[in-house]
Amino acid sequence: MREKKKYVLAFNSSPRKEKGLTAMVLERFMAGAASAGAETETVYLAEKKIADCLGCIHCWFKTPGTCRHKDDVPELHAKMSRADVLVYATPLYICSMNAIMKRFLDRIMPLAEPYQHYDDGVCSHPRRNGNRGGQRTVLVSTCGFPGLRNFDPLVLTFQRMAEVGGSELHASILFPSSALLARDPSPAAEQLEYVFRAGKEAVGDGISEETKAGYSRPYVDPKEYVEEMNALFRALRERAGDSG
Ligand SMILES: Cc1cc2nc3c(=O)[nH]c(=O)nc-3n(C[C@H](O)[C@H](O)[C@H](O)COP(=O)(O)O)c2cc1C
Repeated sequence: MREKKKYVLAFNSSPRKEKGLTAMVLERFMAGAASAGAETETVYLAEKKIADCLGCIHCWFKTPGTCRHKDDVPELHAKMSRADVLVYATPLYICSMNAIMKRFLDRIMPLAEPYQHYDDGVCSHPRRNGNRGGQRTVLVSTCGFPGLRNFDPLVLTFQRMAEVGGSELHASILFPSSALLARDPSPAAEQLEYVFRAGKEAVGDGISEETKAGYSRPYVDPKEYVEEMNALFRALRERAGDSG
């Protein structure tokens, strides 16, 4: 019997959508998954109608599993329940995910039961019936500053979020110094090739430690990058008639 095609679903929250740098990295991952025979889909959250969570908790007690808002979120949740690999792709904004991603994630409550499960210091919610869960979850992010430590609060948030849902974050694909990718991504070509490999492996036995180390390797000297960026910013300010 032929194996069912794996479905890889990505949510990209950059307002710059397919023109953004997060998309550049994500595209490599999705291409890798597609090359391994997976069905892939990228949803640009900026194109979707996503209302703010009202905090009323109707989705737990008054209308269990259903939010009061009539917007695009239920359609996105339906896609999630079918996914084998779920990718959250966000630009780093003020040390964390951007507001578009956060607004979407705040609406995740209808997928969980209110009940709490406590085990050895970890508290989690069981998933609601019909919400299959158990997908491989992957985080993709890019940021302007050099160095992976800029992503620490973001990674911690996604790790903890996975834990609350009773699973774990499978991998974090993080590209700092993103202005370099905008100008000429060739210094990061090898790292991007590892992202392609990660996409392939994510629909197989899982992303290997070797692949994770491969895409996490630095591709720029932080001091040189900062100097170069500052020279560029000064030139842009001068062009705008402001030399201050
Ligand atoms: C509002 C805003 C906040 C940002 N905050 C950070 C930050 O805290 N740290 C950082 O390194 N880069 C920060 N950046 C830079 C972005 O993370 C970076 O340019 C990213 O690659 C943009 O991805 P995109 O092109 O997919 O939108 C910020 C950019 C914006 C617009």
